Amino acid sequence: MVTSSVVITGAASGIGRACVELFAARGFGVVAVDLDEAVLSTLTGQPGQPGPEQVVPLVGDVSREETGTAMAQLALARFGRLDVAVLNAGIGGTLPWEAAGAVERLDRIFAVNVRGVVIGIRSVVPVLRGSGGGSIVVTASSGGLQGEPGNWAYNASKAAVINMVRAAALDHAVQNIRINAVAPGLTETPLTARHRTDPELAAAVGRRIPMQRWGYAREHAAAIWFLASPEASYVTGTTLVADGGLTAHHGAVPLPARPEF
Ligand SMILES: NC(=O)c1ccc[n+]([C@@H]2O[C@H](COP(=O)([O-])OP(=O)(O)OC[C@H]3O[C@@H](n4cnc5c(N)ncnc54)[C@H](O)[C@@H]3O)[C@@H](O)[C@H]2O)c1
Repeated sequence: MVTSSVVITGAASGIGRACVELFAARGFGVVAVDLDEAVLSTLTGQPGQPGPEQVVPLVGDVSREETGTAMAQLALARFGRLDVAVLNAGIGGTLPWEAAGAVERLDRIFAVNVRGVVIGIRSVVPVLRGSGGGSIVVTASSGGLQGEPGNWAYNASKAAVINMVRAAALDHAVQNIRINAVAPGLTETPLTARHRTDPELAAAVGRRIPMQRWGYAREHAAAIWFLASPEASYVTGTTLVADGGLTAHHGAVPLPARPEF
């Protein structure tokens, strides 16, 4: 019998999947939302995994209002309450300014990364209120704080999310709902698999990230857990950057070298 519940979007892979594992391990009932039905089905059923009574999959596109409605209703129907929403689904992809279809791609990135978060907040707030309040954590990005070559659409969407979280926090504080973001830096997930094999980027990680490594999805799940938990009871409207020091370093002055780089 679970006593708390969470909705997690982008739950099948990477950071969202790590959140499913962490929240389930800590006793939460989980509504796991993702577009990818096949991978969603691998969240439960194996030895050591939570059972289907604790992690409930929902196939849906976060940019569609019916997904927001369905995830909030499912949490209520299966667990009787909702305490936390982790609005994590996001897409990226560098995009030359002159590329054919660039504006349509921009629209899609904003539909998932910005509209999807708006829909998520609007959908879960009434259910969180019905549970006496709660916490929403949005996955932004260090790319919302700085620009990256060719990543203008993603950078713009994540910057929008960071400021939206501030505004949303103001509007919902009196309802006992805290709203925060995490801003991961470069993280080892399927989203970045292609980039991790790029030798130039691998060398740049050593030169530009003070901790000189990629982050892991479980490290962001831990930051999300903190923001969602009562330990962060006076924290709202903020973005917790977890990027190994990347955005603390302006980059013009080289970092101290380490022998392995
Ligand atoms: N990996 C990184 O380096 C990194 C860095 C900063 C921020 N982020 C952010 O973290 C979040 C998670 O990224 P990740 O690295 O775990 O990526 P990922 O690709 O491993 O997982 C993202 C999941 O979201 C799902 N998804 C995509 N569009 C969706 C939609 N419209 N509706 C429902 N589900 C959808 C995908 O199917 C996938 O399972 C994203 O918001 C991303 O922008 C990632």
